[in-house]
Amino acid sequence: MMLGFLKPVLLMWVSLNLCLVSFSSGFNPVDSYLIDCGSSTNTSVGDRVFIADNLASNLLSTPKDILAKTTLKSITSSEDSQLYQTARVFTGSSTYTFSIRQSGRHWIRLYFYPFIYTGYNMSAAKFSVSTQNHVLLSDFGVESTSILKEFSLNVTSNNIEITFTPSSNSIAFLNAIEVVSVPDGLITDDASTVSPAAQFQGLLPFALETVWRVNMGGPKVIFDNDTLWRTWIPDQSFLVQENLAKNLSKIGAVKYVTGGATQDIAPNTVYGTATVMNSLDDPSSNFNVSWEFNVDPGFQYLVRFHFCDILSKALNELYFNVYIDSWIVVKDLDLSTYLVNTLAAAYYMDFVTVSAVSNKLRVSIGPSTLDGTYPNAILNGLEIMKMNNSMGSLSAADSVIISSDSSSKKNVGVIVGISIGAFIAVILGVVFFMLHRKRRRLARQRESKTWTPFSINEGNSQSMGSKYSNGTTASAIFNYGYRIPFAAVQEAANNFDESWVIGIGGFGKVYKGVLSDGTKVAVKRGNPRSQQGLAEFQTEIEMLSQFRHRHLVSLIGYCDEKNEMILVYEYMENGTLKSHLYGSGLPNLSWKQRLEICIGAARGLHYLHTGYAKAVIHRDVKSANILLDENLMAKVADFGLSKTGPEIDQTHVSTAVKGSFGYLDPEYFRRQQLTEKSDIYSFGVVLFEVLCARPVIDPSLPREMVNLAEWAMKWQKRGQLEQIIDSTLAGKIRPDSLRKFGETAEKCLADYGVDRPSMGDVLWNLEYALQLQEAVTDGDPEENSTNMIGELSPQVNYFGDSSTNVSATQFGGSPVDDLSGVSMSRVFSQLVKSEGR
Ligand SMILES: *[C@@H]1O[C@H](CO)[C@@H](O)[C@H](O)[C@H]1NC(C)=O
Ligand SMILES: *[C@@H]1O[C@H](CO)[C@@H](O)[C@H](O)[C@H]1NC(C)=O
Ligand SMILES: *[C@@H]1O[C@H](CO)[C@@H](O)[C@H](O)[C@H]1NC(C)=O
Ligand SMILES: *[C@@H]1O[C@H](CO)[C@@H](O)[C@H](O)[C@H]1NC(C)=O
Ligand SMILES: *[C@@H]1O[C@H](CO)[C@@H](O)[C@H](O)[C@H]1NC(C)=O
Ligand SMILES: *[C@@H]1O[C@H](CO)[C@@H](O)[C@H](O)[C@H]1NC(C)=O
Ligand SMILES: *[C@@H]1O[C@H](CO)[C@@H](O)[C@H](O)[C@H]1NC(C)=O
Repeated sequence: MMLGFLKPVLLMWVSLNLCLVSFSSGFNPVDSYLIDCGSSTNTSVGDRVFIADNLASNLLSTPKDILAKTTLKSITSSEDSQLYQTARVFTGSSTYTFSIRQSGRHWIRLYFYPFIYTGYNMSAAKFSVSTQNHVLLSDFGVESTSILKEFSLNVTSNNIEITFTPSSNSIAFLNAIEVVSVPDGLITDDASTVSPAAQFQGLLPFALETVWRVNMGGPKVIFDNDTLWRTWIPDQSFLVQENLAKNLSKIGAVKYVTGGATQDIAPNTVYGTATVMNSLDDPSSNFNVSWEFNVDPGFQYLVRFHFCDILSKALNELYFNVYIDSWIVVKDLDLSTYLVNTLAAAYYMDFVTVSAVSNKLRVSIGPSTLDGTYPNAILNGLEIMKMNNSMGSLSAADSVIISSDSSSKKNVGVIVGISIGAFIAVILGVVFFMLHRKRRRLARQRESKTWTPFSINEGNSQSMGSKYSNGTTASAIFNYGYRIPFAAVQEAANNFDESWVIGIGGFGKVYKGVLSDGTKVAVKRGNPRSQQGLAEFQTEIEMLSQFRHRHLVSLIGYCDEKNEMILVYEYMENGTLKSHLYGSGLPNLSWKQRLEICIGAARGLHYLHTGYAKAVIHRDVKSANILLDENLMAKVADFGLSKTGPEIDQTHVSTAVKGSFGYLDPEYFRRQQLTEKSDIYSFGVVLFEVLCARPVIDPSLPREMVNLAEWAMKWQKRGQLEQIIDSTLAGKIRPDSLRKFGETAEKCLADYGVDRPSMGDVLWNLEYALQLQEAVTDGDPEENSTNMIGELSPQVNYFGDSSTNVSATQFGGSPVDDLSGVSMSRVFSQLVKSEGR
């Protein structure tokens, strides 16, 4: 049944995936300059042509044209060796000026191979290379080998000038140059910081130098096999202890799914090979696989991890930790729970390091310490990119080494967030949620009317500067999966056609929609000026991405592009329970249908209250938030107000009572203290609403009837509930069933939370009410009902015994149904424990 409800989701990923792949493999750079310096002919490298020098001489200003050529035949064995046979020699400052048609990030690739040409000894050359805003290289020289330097710069002006300046008494040289557009999404604005764990924003303006680009566990991947003409080198030589690592290759298994990596991020030859722990089938293995890379101290680095679980045979099999230097950057990573629970999905995570103090950067993966997990760990690819320093420079000669004290106050063991463009980390999400719920509440309180996504900072950023928000923002959770491009949402909802609106709430409008593969969805588009803003948007994404249950409406994705707050859900064919009760002219539901709907909703809420280590309180239980699918199966929706509790709130009086009038727990109202018993109260009101088929507040009625809860309780206490039931049910409810139902609702509406039953109790009693009803309809009423009451009698007084723990199986659902989150909850509680110290 899990599968049943996941199916539409899967379909959607597949369809979007296909269009992404076809888009990405055809990346066509708007700007593309390829010059084979010093060459008199064009040179083909793979499917690209580097033009002859004379065709580009108009782009260059240099004091003296010196076109050099070597007679050595094959300089390198690589496919691009031809490029290294010729060079330009610069005796004075020389500048290439490339006009840029489309602003944005551009690769600058510089090819160097020194040789001697008529007295110009390039091996002895020392020079610098800079652009208008950045120093790329200074005091740079190449003694013998061929070197390819790769930079990426966000060019916002209409040209880029690249200047080669020889050091005194020296020359400069260049064998080939590329200036090529980079796809916009390749480097996004956000990443996570390593220490302290937080979100890093503002990556876009940085100039980056690719220092290392490594394919773990596989061969060298050259530009031909990479949509962006990158080269990936094997990892062997970086392994600290080669014997601890093992190769793995399964290129055919790699899946590119929406929200994850695209082929532009890295090709399947990178994702399809990996280095894993060489655990030698020893379940007690406990070691890290580490790689060490030379870096220039004094710079921050953008470290991009490429992951793809080609190791696991099943979901939730592999949990591991990821480290940069001594910092744990991801704890208990379970790759399979990202997105739609799929194995072998390609994705990546970006981290920004603290300014390096050593000339080595170490990256490690190691087993999780969670109980019962088999020790292993995986890494498929890694990129290390140097970020320009405050002087705009990437050159080691300009490095600024700051004392590490202020920036390296570490928080080992704290889980960090991960980059935009990767996935909703279920585990991380939970942890972030737990960690920062309190701060978020504060943030929510001071949330301003103007809606600015991703910038609800706490205002107490630490010494690291304003670019670092404190980990208290939406950040981590927004960074993962489920993200749907705005264009796709817009198309699905027929450009937000007003006639497609199926609901309007405090949050905004809900549209029906159809994804390109035909899957029906409901699209909830937040109104930027809505009072319930970003915080609720976040809460809902967090909740729905963690809580998957057949009686909870599932989230298909979200969109936060262009300041939008859009949530995309599975489509619920039959709308709200409320609409089936009154006011819409829909056919009346039978008593049995109503009981089944109540039972379904109770299951969903029971799962929220008990499925995880900390109870989650829905806070807005009402008939309009119980939706019905095509089979009238009930699912609970709208988690925008949800909170975990109640432990959290014991010391804290929440200032804003939220929820819907008519359903609000009077105790919560009085004491402003939130427990899951408030949901029980609201659910009790729903039960009466279902029975009486009238609004919970109806001001048009005589005073004593206005409030349904009061009115129904009056009749229930008199033992005459049948007087006020929906007239279409008259004579159709078995008295026993009605009595059980009425008692259940009454207990739910007890004045004090402590006197109310748990959701498990409610569920149990509703099941029982259904059985009492069924006894009449099937076969001989008298016989059956007598027998049944006899059999079930110990349970009749169930409310008296709230200490009993009822397991899911007793509710008639399969254990999988109601406890499908159990493995996650174990993980989660562990995380919370480790966090609590
Ligand atoms: C070299 O390439 C340029 C640009 O692609 C083209 O215009 C030119 O005709 C080519 N020259 C030769 C000799 O092939
Ligand atoms: C380039 O930088 C500008 C300004 O920082 C930013 O608005 C733009 O999105 C960036 N473009 C890319 C492709 O990084
Ligand atoms: C060229 O320069 C390199 C590096 O300074 C030096 O080792 C080499 O001897 C020089 N070669 C000649 C022919 O001068
Ligand atoms: C792993 O693969 C690389 C590249 O294919 C190869 O050079 C290396 O020897 C392999 N290592 C092991 C342990 O098989
Ligand atoms: C690279 O691409 C070529 C053809 O374009 C293919 O034959 C080769 O197998 C690819 N290499 C890898 C490592 O996939
Ligand atoms: C793995 O490396 C991290 C960071 O250096 C270290 O804290 C941890 O103890 C290591 N784990 C093992 C099993 O060696
Ligand atoms: C890197 O360069 C950009 C300009 O492109 C500049 O805005 C930024 O401040 C520089 N980085 C740092 C750390 O200062």
